[in-house]
Amino acid sequence: MPELRLYLADEIFPLWRTLDAESGEVEASLPFWAFAWAGGQTVARYLLDRPTGVKGMRVLDLAAGSGISALAAAKAGASESIAVDVDPYSTEVVALNACANSLQITAWRRDLLDSEPPDVDLVVAGDVCYEQPMAARVLPWLRRVHTSGIPVLLADPGRAYFPRAEFRALAEYDIPTSRDLEDAEVKRTGVYEFTSSSPTTEAARPFPS
Ligand SMILES: C[S@@+](CC[C@H](N)C(=O)[O-])C[C@H]1O[C@@H](n2cnc3c(N)ncnc32)[C@H](O)[C@@H]1O
Repeated sequence: MPELRLYLADEIFPLWRTLDAESGEVEASLPFWAFAWAGGQTVARYLLDRPTGVKGMRVLDLAAGSGISALAAAKAGASESIAVDVDPYSTEVVALNACANSLQITAWRRDLLDSEPPDVDLVVAGDVCYEQPMAARVLPWLRRVHTSGIPVLLADPGRAYFPRAEFRALAEYDIPTSRDLEDAEVKRTGVYEFTSSSPTTEAARPFPS
């Protein structure tokens, strides 16, 4: 993504083993924050191509990882861009990546999934259906956010736990990835919003593109 500079790792397993060794845990969390996953890249591309949908808005990037989506929102003119993740390394890496791009990002280490919808104008979520327990928590929360009237953009590369039928595709991209991460060089990845047939109310607003 030519518009953004990110600190990224080349390979996941050596880094994961280093984290295991340093943390003393049998299995430390996968270093999601060291990669721009297909979902995050897709949200970023979508926002950068549609700055009018983001300009002046308060944007929350849920499960931010490296913060790529939050960075794109800030670059596209968001008035505030908040990157939220439960992984403490993510918060640190988001700060580094914000600095590398001379962008202002608020980085929270927080689990919002049992909380009320946040006080923002747009929620974005890249690649959040990568495992069943996360999908089971994040999808009801995102639906709640949507129902409260806050637009939600979710990007997914066809993960098994992504309920495609509940969403409407807004755009699709061929996203470069790696055999190390995805066993593929390219992943076709969509950016989605909830369909009106999912449990929503009239309060729900679409992404203003
Ligand atoms: C596959 S990565 C996606 C990262 C980024 N959105 C991207 O697409 O590059 C999934 C992220 O979800 C985060 N995560 C898991 N549970 C979470 C929760 N309850 N709240 C916020 N983030 C969470 C992980 O720490 C990880 O950074």
